[in-house]
Amino acid sequence: MTASTISTEALRELLERRAPVTVLDVRPATERAEWSIPGSVHADAYDALRRGHSSALADFHPTNGDRVVTVCAAGKTSMLAAERLRARGLDAASLEGGMRAWSLAWNTAELPSPGSTARIVQLRRTGKGCLSYLIGSHGDAAVIDASLDPQVYQRVADTNGWHIRTVLETHVHADHLSRARALAAHTGARLCLPATDRVSFEYATLNDGHIVRVGSACLRALHTPGHTPESTSYLLDDRALFTGDTLFLSAVGRPDLEATRDESRRRAHVLHASLQRLVALPPETVVLPAHTGEPVAFDGRPISATLREVQQRTWLLRETEEMFVSRILARLPPTPPNHHRIVALNEAGTLPDDPTELEAGANRCAVA
Ligand SMILES: [Fe+2]
Repeated sequence: MTASTISTEALRELLERRAPVTVLDVRPATERAEWSIPGSVHADAYDALRRGHSSALADFHPTNGDRVVTVCAAGKTSMLAAERLRARGLDAASLEGGMRAWSLAWNTAELPSPGSTARIVQLRRTGKGCLSYLIGSHGDAAVIDASLDPQVYQRVADTNGWHIRTVLETHVHADHLSRARALAAHTGARLCLPATDRVSFEYATLNDGHIVRVGSACLRALHTPGHTPESTSYLLDDRALFTGDTLFLSAVGRPDLEATRDESRRRAHVLHASLQRLVALPPETVVLPAHTGEPVAFDGRPISATLREVQQRTWLLRETEEMFVSRILARLPPTPPNHHRIVALNEAGTLPDDPTELEAGANRCAVA
């Protein structure tokens, strides 16, 4: 039998190589509804475990091999679950730190890149929905919207024989801590941000129309304000469009974070114009956003769609400017947890010792 606990990284590796393991989520159903581990099964055993009921998990049986990993919010009740299953002779381990620690788990998918000399790897924080990108061409690489530890990007770049020379951000993020500055320091890469007076560290400025070369490929900056004033999209070789939180696959960015009601309305008008600019690009352009609203499966399938598909799925893109503004302001979701503190840290370019405490919870940058 293996150890009684397992780290996020060890479970991540098991899932990545599709090893047989049953992930058993013992949280209350309401918590599981917000976010879960792809492929996990649920037993609503939280209260019974806390109370020490002998019936808790009595009828549970692994569904994928003999190994079981138990999961709760922070790794305490899942310990009780693992102990109980181990007492029955099952090979059970509790996920250390629970779903909070799992927010750092990641996987990758590579996009097909016909017509471009560049390859694109999508790095997905499966436990939070943040999407970042590593673009490689002729040994050089760029990273867009780094949300994971710098070592992760370094590892994937090394595997592909790429040297990370440029680190870019689409905007100042509000629902995760940016690792862009740390990644640039770690790799010696140039840190590029859209022009903004919001941040208090040095960076290379990107304005509308600026080109960043990656090997023999090129990224063109398109200033697309609205979600935030500085929000910028990047177009790779006129084929792939990194939209940050301006445009998702079936939703658009929210214009209200760190803004008054009047400012949100002004930003919504500006966002409408930015989106019209993006939808005027060729319909086969591949849209690559900075977030997804679902846990990301370990399936190697990129989260992307063509601009044509995004237009078909996103009714807000078909509204007139006035309707767009009134509809978007009426449909704003709750603000992301801790977003004021996350924005302040991203503007300062610093990271706390334990980012998972601030980053807990699903991302909420989209309006659908
Ligand atoms: Fe954002």
